Amino acid sequence: MKIGSVSENIKIEKRIAVTPETAKKYISFGFEVILSKNYGLHLGITDEEYKNLGVKISNDEKEILNNTNIVVQLGLLSDEKCSLLKKDQILIGILNPYDNKNKLDNLVKKEINFFSLELLPRITRAQSMDILSSQANLAGYKAVVESFANFEKAIPMMMTAAGTVPAAKVLVVGAGVAGLQAIATAKRMGAIVFSTDVRMASKEQVESLGGKFLTVEGAENLETEGGYAKEASEDFKKKQEDLLSETLKKIDIVICTALIPGKKAPLIIKENMINNLQPGSVIYDLAAVQGGNTALTEVDKIIEKNGIKIMGESNILNKLPISASSLYAKNMFNFVENLFDKENKKININLEDEIIKKTLIK
Ligand code: NAI
Repeated sequence: MKIGSVSENIKIEKRIAVTPETAKKYISFGFEVILSKNYGLHLGITDEEYKNLGVKISNDEKEILNNTNIVVQLGLLSDEKCSLLKKDQILIGILNPYDNKNKLDNLVKKEINFFSLELLPRITRAQSMDILSSQANLAGYKAVVESFANFEKAIPMMMTAAGTVPAAKVLVVGAGVAGLQAIATAKRMGAIVFSTDVRMASKEQVESLGGKFLTVEGAENLETEGGYAKEASEDFKKKQEDLLSETLKKIDIVICTALIPGKKAPLIIKENMINNLQPGSVIYDLAAVQGGNTALTEVDKIIEKNGIKIMGESNILNKLPISASSLYAKNMFNFVENLFDKENKKININLEDEIIKKTLIK
């Protein structure tokens, strides 16, 4: 069994899919591991470190893409690189099947097996492979750090001889994985934290972290059976708008994380609502790439309006690629392990297994 990975375009993706820790695990399974030259160098991991573990380093991407059984990556490879893959080979990554549908449809016709990890079911057995959770958790943390770094006042309350500095007030919109980590991080740094979500189950989770949950009065619980959010009705949106418009008057920092799977991010903070914030306030919009939760969000820009900063990035995980890679590579290893039939030492694409069935692109 040969498993390989080629370097990503590090200008847009600094994370890697195979770390020294997981390379060692693959090798202990009897896999041969092949990586591109300087694969982890931008993260301080030298080729020597990989070689010492028994990894083969190759100068030739063709050798990796053409001669391995499994290729593990972050995003989908370029057309040119995909054309090197052949029948029965496996490619695993975050393949964005909604946007890449046509390209993937053509490749699937060549009988290449594509597994997209964002399609993993949210079941207990899949938790160790759950890239959505591991990456969203880090994104929630980093969004708080970035917004606090752009906020020109102190975060915790400080009582000094010269007077009292009040604690900053943070609103987290959307209390899923990223939102809950944002609440925990902001609390740890001394902020007073408020949060809201369309799923009622999140109220208890917010409160257990010391946040104050803002309930949209009279609203139905907008949760699907799978635990995700449903799109809100016009009535809900109006009530939420009234509640948040009032709340924003006392808020210093807003962290937006609201998403609806497979859809454009909901527009929650309209332009007139942004004006309710005080000058000096900061909004960090983690939903920027999916269209943004605010009316003014622009990807990879800091927009200034009446002294309020609105920011959001295409890939916040590029700001902590070492931690993000460490978790991603472990998620990936656990996924590959589930595909591997240890007794017969071969890959078994068992479509009775919900994890395999749901992630395989057909
Ligand atoms: P997500 O990234 O799709 O959405 C983020 C949050 O935004 C969600 O909490 C969602 O309810 C909220 N949201 C959507 N529209 C909104 C609106 N208009 N206003 C306010 N909030 C809005 O969701 P994420 O973080 O991936 O988690 C979704 C669910 O998956 C949660 O129930 C979580 O507990 C569950 N989960 C289960 C796991 C498992 O293995 N069992 C692992 C991870 C998450």
